[in-house]
Amino acid sequence: MAYDFDRVIDRSGTDATKLQKYAGTDILPFWIADMDFAVPDFILDPLHERLEHPIMGYTKKPVSLTLALQNWLVHHYGWQVPEDWIVWLPGVVPGLNMAVNTLAADAQLLVPTPIYYPFLDLQENSGRRQIAVPLTLDNGLWSMDFAAMNDALSPQTKMVCIANPQNPTGRCYSLGELQALAGFIEEQDLLLVSDEIHCQLILDEDKQHLPIAHAVPEIAHRTVSLFAATKTYNIPGLGCAAAIVPDAALRQRFVATRGDLVPGPGPLNYIASEAAFNDRSDWVPQLLTTLRRNHDLVRAVAGERMTTVQATYLAWLNIEDLQLNDVDGHFESHGLGLSNGAPFGHEGYVRFNFASPRSVLEEGLRRLSESLRAG
Ligand SMILES: Cc1ncc(COP(=O)(O)O)c(C=O)c1O
Repeated sequence: MAYDFDRVIDRSGTDATKLQKYAGTDILPFWIADMDFAVPDFILDPLHERLEHPIMGYTKKPVSLTLALQNWLVHHYGWQVPEDWIVWLPGVVPGLNMAVNTLAADAQLLVPTPIYYPFLDLQENSGRRQIAVPLTLDNGLWSMDFAAMNDALSPQTKMVCIANPQNPTGRCYSLGELQALAGFIEEQDLLLVSDEIHCQLILDEDKQHLPIAHAVPEIAHRTVSLFAATKTYNIPGLGCAAAIVPDAALRQRFVATRGDLVPGPGPLNYIASEAAFNDRSDWVPQLLTTLRRNHDLVRAVAGERMTTVQATYLAWLNIEDLQLNDVDGHFESHGLGLSNGAPFGHEGYVRFNFASPRSVLEEGLRRLSESLRAG
């Protein structure tokens, strides 16, 4: 079946965060990371079916959801994950915060930056000190800087937090890099949180997403891996995520941080994620074809400003030469709503979400082209 990713869907009236920010203006939003594509029927149909029932009470996690995730992990990675390693959560970000809260109060975190901005809220949320270690850029490719990470260590350093694939740079870490990170983690006796929410959005056909806890099993017991189907299938409004924590003692500490603060996902959220994990159709491959085309369209306009995107639908654009005092205002004055790099820990960059139908993207790129000339 052919899916239409170029259909323009009017999102007005849905209170979409992406649109609301610029309501009443003609600014086109390419900022927050959701897609302007329809959720496939194999997810919508079971949701419709559930809505036939008039009661939406408290709901336990369905056994079939855990099974769907386990089968999905075997299908994609050959990774056998026992049920008791899996903790279901209403989102990846709560899992990230819970993992940090397993640490002693004086513990420090290492976070390679730029990174998805909730990682940079961990210090304030948890009271644990956070050290940002910049990724290095070599020939357009962002990489972890192990020498700088080593220099940033202190006796209090207890955890590294990464996203793989990486938001905002779109980096999909190689086996060599994951092995080097694992070596660092072991040598320094650290824990690792690996946010793998973008795992299915691999644009570079020579790359493969490798979950670190499976690719380098020696550090599985030091790892909290965070997975969700919500990014791939454009259902982030139905938050549902899985933490995979192989070590029983770490898992116990992780679950204990939940307290009464983090609720379970709701019934519709479970149903949507289960349908997504059970999907073996052509939807994701066709989505990726569209995203690869869109990537190339952005690259044609942004040229060398755009660093290499191996995964995600996010372009990370260098705008340092424009020397803008008001980054947001500059792009908004050209009718573009982009994500400013500063909250990701990296000024001089903007993030452009290219998961839009072709006609919308082309208008956005026309505006981008103008805005990059008019610095
Ligand atoms: C790397 C990364 N982690 C987590 C999230 C959000 O996860 P959740 O909505 O499940 O908390 C995003 C959303 O863009 C993301 O890019």
